[in-house]
Amino acid sequence: MSTNRISLIKPDDWHLHLRDGEALRTSVPHTARCFARAIVMPNLLPPVTTVASALAYRERILAAVLPKQTFTPLMTLYLTDELAPLEMERLAKSPHVIAVKYYPAGATTNSQNGVTDIEKVIPTLERMAELSIPLLIHGEVTDPDTDIFDRERLFIEQVLSPLRDRLPELRVILEHITTQDSVDYVKSGGDGLAATITVHHLLHNRNDLLAGGIRPHFYCLPILKRSSHQTALIEAAISGSPKFFLGTDSAPHLRSQKESACGCAGVYTAPAALELYAEVFEQHNALDRLEKFASVFGPQFYGLQPNTEQVTLIRQDWQLPESYPFTAEDTVVPLRSGDKICWQLK
Ligand code: DOR
Ligand code: ZN
Repeated sequence: MSTNRISLIKPDDWHLHLRDGEALRTSVPHTARCFARAIVMPNLLPPVTTVASALAYRERILAAVLPKQTFTPLMTLYLTDELAPLEMERLAKSPHVIAVKYYPAGATTNSQNGVTDIEKVIPTLERMAELSIPLLIHGEVTDPDTDIFDRERLFIEQVLSPLRDRLPELRVILEHITTQDSVDYVKSGGDGLAATITVHHLLHNRNDLLAGGIRPHFYCLPILKRSSHQTALIEAAISGSPKFFLGTDSAPHLRSQKESACGCAGVYTAPAALELYAEVFEQHNALDRLEKFASVFGPQFYGLQPNTEQVTLIRQDWQLPESYPFTAEDTVVPLRSGDKICWQLK
């Protein structure tokens, strides 16, 4: 018998891009619809590198929450070569800023101010380990000669594994993992290591991006991999291991910047994120494990309590809009634009 209704502890999104300015009027309500909290990425231009600027950004986000919604943004700082260990003391004292994001310079959208050499940030990482501040990692090497499909695997070998040998106390979340290699590495990595998994990497593989025509709305980083890696991610997500939890990496871009000769990386999943995760878990007979993945393992890793509210999903088709207003000039196109979604948030 199939289930037509599931209730779960209200989930959180442990990896999210909201952007800034007028875009917040679209991105914030889409996430606040179903997530109680979200870890907000700091890759603005200029990046969010101080507790003071993170708190100001947080106020702009809160101003975009709709009157009937409740939403708690959990802020992050952007690790640059210059980020001082002293800023970690300020972070540790702020209840609203809870982690630091590591982008290798040049890895992805707005990563030009990221880390150029891990050696330059060791003193800051040491302070983070002492203060138990989690490091959220975009795990891809940036050497232009490295094949784009190998970048995540090589990051583990060349950067992450040596870093964790050197600083075993550092709490690490390998964000948006895309390969069997990452699943294996995280599983074998001890309590201080976890990973987030996006819904687009669970639903899709590189054929969806490239076979029969190039589909820019599936282009993201780390790039979609072959289907055997997709299968490994699904197995990890539904495994019941507390090391894998929900992080959408919902990353809105203007339609014109996606549908372009050189399109931006990012998939906008927030308008149907929880519904799409439910679809994946249902396809694999694991709906009973969605709650732990979406609502329990994340707070557990971050040392926070799960939410007290509940949400209910019912099996009822609805149609996702083709696009949403985003700026005065242009729109944003969600994943599954114009398609039927089979779960609906009550
Ligand atoms: O696809 C992505 N989009 N991957 C990232 O790492 C960044 C994100 C963005 O900010 O657009
Ligand atoms: Zn991201």
